[in-house]
Amino acid sequence: MVHTGHLILVNRNHPYREGSPYKTLAPVDATNNNVLLERRVASVYDKLMDELYARNRITAVSGWRSQREQEQIYSESLLENGADFTAKYVALPGHSEHQTGLAVDLALNQPDIDFIRPYFPYTGVCGAFREMAGRFGFIERYPEGKENITGIAYEPWHFRYVGAPHAMIMEQMGDTLEEYHARIRQFPYGRDPLQYDFGSSKIEVSYLPAGKEIVTFDIEGDTPYSVSGNNMDGFVVTVWRSSR
Ligand code: DAL
Ligand code: ZN
Repeated sequence: MVHTGHLILVNRNHPYREGSPYKTLAPVDATNNNVLLERRVASVYDKLMDELYARNRITAVSGWRSQREQEQIYSESLLENGADFTAKYVALPGHSEHQTGLAVDLALNQPDIDFIRPYFPYTGVCGAFREMAGRFGFIERYPEGKENITGIAYEPWHFRYVGAPHAMIMEQMGDTLEEYHARIRQFPYGRDPLQYDFGSSKIEVSYLPAGKEIVTFDIEGDTPYSVSGNNMDGFVVTVWRSSR
C-alpha cells in the first residue's frame, strides 16, 4: 500500500511499482479515447474541462504510459534529440509519473503539437486552466527554478493529480512534490498535524511511517479521511474536520 495512492512520489530516486490492484484507467474524455488516466483523475479532468468550456481548446497529448511505451519514447528521444535533451525531458523508464496514470501533458489545441514538449502557455484558456487547476487537485509538477529538486527540466505542460487539498497547500507553500513530502514528514501522525483551511473544512495532514507489520490508526466516528502511500516509507493521512 505504500506504493499506491494519489500522493505517491515517482522520480529518479523512486521508481513506480507496477501492479497496483487499485488502478483502473479511463479515457480523458469522450472525444479522446487514445489518452487514458486513472479513472478518478480522468473524471476530475473532465469536470475541469466542462467548467472552463475548454474541451476543444485544450487537448491531452499524453496520459498513462506503459513501461514499454516509456521505453520507446526514451530510446526514440535518445536517437532524435540526444542524451542531454532526453535526460532533461524524458523520465527513465520505470521512473515516469505517466506510468501511474496520475499525470497528463496538455497542449493548446492547434496544428503541429510537439509530443515531448507541447505548447501550453500562461495566457488565454491555458491560463484559465492554471488558475483553476489547484482547486481540482492538479499541480504543475516541474516548475522553473526547481530543476535540481525534481530532476526534470521546466515542463509547463505536465500536470500531476495529487487531490485538491494537497494541490492548494502545495501552491500556497510553493512546494514541489519532493518538498511537500519533506514537509509532511515533520508532522508525524498523532502529534500536531499540518493544518489548512479549505472551504468550510479544516484539513489536517500528517505522516504515518510504515511498520514492519500492519499499520493501524484511529479516526473518530464518521470523520472523512483519506490515506495515500508516499512510495517511499509510509503514508500521508488526510483528515477533513468540519469547522461548524
Ligand atoms: N516528461 C516527463 C518527465 C516524463 O517523461 O515522465
Ligand atoms: Zn508529462
